[in-house]
Amino acid sequence: KRIVVLISGNGSNLQAIIDACAQQKINGVMSAVFSNKADAFGLERAREANIPAHALSASAFASREAFDRELIQEIDAYAPDLIVLAGYMRILSPAFVAHYAGRLLNIHPSLLPKYPGLHTHRQALANGDEEHGTSVHFVTDELDGGPVILQARVPVFPGDTEEDVTARVQAQEHAIYPLVVSWFVDGRLAMREGRAWLDGHPL
Ligand code: GRF
Repeated sequence: KRIVVLISGNGSNLQAIIDACAQQKINGVMSAVFSNKADAFGLERAREANIPAHALSASAFASREAFDRELIQEIDAYAPDLIVLAGYMRILSPAFVAHYAGRLLNIHPSLLPKYPGLHTHRQALANGDEEHGTSVHFVTDELDGGPVILQARVPVFPGDTEEDVTARVQAQEHAIYPLVVSWFVDGRLAMREGRAWLDGHPL
């Protein structure tokens, strides 16, 4: 199975998936990495692993739709089975989401449906949450609203800073995202009737 990953930044989740492919914990090949930021460190990680790494700047396009149309073309040149969003910080057009429906995954750093959108760690701290976490989900037109596949919980301790919580959550992300990708490439995971299914059971 062929996997394409979209990033905008550091790419630590990308790295976790690269490593899982190398260790054959994921029965697939990472065909390419795309970033909407030319200086994303994740592009370096991809090149280091000999994976084709592409940057596509939104400023070169007249609209979100035009940017996404080009992105679709470039992605589809790799004929991927799965598209993985890993810190891709750009809103997707409905046409993009529709084109990859059922084979588009995202990871969001909160216990969805809590805290869609930005600054999730800050919100969890501000609200005095004793528990926080991260969610892997199928992507639909609703921002951070698609069916959840797997979540990991972490405690929030008194005195935690945003950095503390971020690090704790990210460590969990690096465990659960490769696992979900492996489920998908093994044909165990699907989106049907607006739900996520694992091994034929609704989640
Ligand atoms: C992750 O925390 C992910 O949940 C969020 O963006 C962050 C990306 O981090 N969507 P990285 O680029 O994978 O290090």
